[in-house]
Amino acid sequence: MIEEREHWSSSLGFVLAAAGSAIGLGAIWKFPYIAGQNGGGAFLLIYLVFVAIIGMPVMLCEITLGRRTQQNPVGAFRMLSPAKSHLANFIGFSMLFTAVALLCFHEYGWAIVMLIVGGLIIRYGWTSAGIISIVAGFVILSYYSVVGGWTLGYIIKSFQGELNYVTEAAAANCFNSFKDNMGWVIPLHIGFMLICSLIIAKGVKNGIEKWSKILMPMLFVLLVILILRGLTLPGAVKGVSFFLSPKFSDLSTEGILTAMGLAFFTLSLGMGAMVTYGSYISREQNVFMSTLSIILLDTVIATLAGLAIFPAVFAMGFKEAAGPGLVFNILPAVFNSIPGQFGWLWAGIFFILLSIAAITSGISLLEMLVAFLSDELKWKRNKAVWISFTAVTTLGLLSAVSVSSWGRIEWLHQALVKAFHIERGSFFDMMDNFSSNWLLPLSGLAVSIFVGWIWGSRKAVEEIRHGSHNFADVHLISLLAGLKDDASHNNARYHVLTLASLWGIFIRFVAPVAITIAFLHEVGWLKNS
Ligand code: PFF
Repeated sequence: MIEEREHWSSSLGFVLAAAGSAIGLGAIWKFPYIAGQNGGGAFLLIYLVFVAIIGMPVMLCEITLGRRTQQNPVGAFRMLSPAKSHLANFIGFSMLFTAVALLCFHEYGWAIVMLIVGGLIIRYGWTSAGIISIVAGFVILSYYSVVGGWTLGYIIKSFQGELNYVTEAAAANCFNSFKDNMGWVIPLHIGFMLICSLIIAKGVKNGIEKWSKILMPMLFVLLVILILRGLTLPGAVKGVSFFLSPKFSDLSTEGILTAMGLAFFTLSLGMGAMVTYGSYISREQNVFMSTLSIILLDTVIATLAGLAIFPAVFAMGFKEAAGPGLVFNILPAVFNSIPGQFGWLWAGIFFILLSIAAITSGISLLEMLVAFLSDELKWKRNKAVWISFTAVTTLGLLSAVSVSSWGRIEWLHQALVKAFHIERGSFFDMMDNFSSNWLLPLSGLAVSIFVGWIWGSRKAVEEIRHGSHNFADVHLISLLAGLKDDASHNNARYHVLTLASLWGIFIRFVAPVAITIAFLHEVGWLKNS
């Protein structure tokens, strides 16, 4: 028997769950270290601009797609796709030709990828965008859960007093031996997946929504405690000014494009997570305000994470541009350098916070797979959850065992080098690179083109109007001039500068162009040197 689709019990429930998806390792782990490497305040400013002009319009696309169709990403695209799309056919056939050309150059691995994706596009048209986003979610969750496992491990280590070092070198030692110790890493990875699966198994309302309502406020409180601790240290002001006063000379073109990719990742875009969560919203809810709230929450938390980290880093005399190790290597040392005996407590609080953020994001990725399996194959939730759990955990094992070297899975390494002729990074890095730099922007691009041009912004705006009253039609100039309710002036008729028309322009032109530029840069086709 088909289970009836559940819905969030309230707008707040949806906003907290979606903000939980957005606020994750991206906002609290990646954002601070990347900001640290790219000029602090200047990076923050550019990031905010991208969030506003690309993140917000694309998120509204995804949520609207989900609510309109009440389907997982694959079902959503299928339901709204035209029977025939020349654009999709053109892309599909171009990929097949490229595959043939690659075969001539003996690039067999890439040729097979092109063949599969091209064939998929020709056979399924725009629905293949949904399929790609499911694959991206699956791959991302597999290695995201490995890092999620590290955060759980670091909670245990903090409270056992094992993170009691004060130098960077000792910290790096500890982290390196930790991530190579399979006796820790594998059970923690499985544990992380288990927590996410147990929450998801309870359903949308009693699982995801209930836990988001508990975990998100907790995350906020923990963050405030850390900020207060950091800001009250002598010398903290330097950290605040590094993070909040922009120095544009430190910002490169690289940095600008990185800011865009990061905005996509931290907002959970391009992976169908927001389509899935959007499919549990009822038509009375205001999707416009919900999107705005999710964006605000994510941005505020990412900024607060910077404020929790940089003042302490500066006050204790550590390097702000430490890179990915900023959180696992430097922070415990920073916390232990704070005078008093409470280094373990600050570190413990920080890693609990990071775990909460990772769990609420992990469940959104897992839910997307579960929604796909239960909508498309009509599986019961429990069956879908545990089969997804098994598949993701298994793929994740390959990332877990190969973070620092290929040694344990050399056979796979050889096979991949033979097929793709690339020898960069570990399996973990390859999965991150493949999903974040390729699948994610491509499926983000597909979403904005699909909603803007194929389904059409007109139909999308009609959907947004449900529950948003005449929000979409607020005449921005009238609003700014204080003439919003001028009775002699029927605002809804004017499409000159309404929020809806502005949104249409952004998803039809601005987002596709910007995503394409960032994508070409990310994959190295736009580098000037
Ligand atoms: N937004 C999450 C983060 O910043 O960590 C990562 C993420 C979650 C990406 C869910 C995509 C997604 F569908």
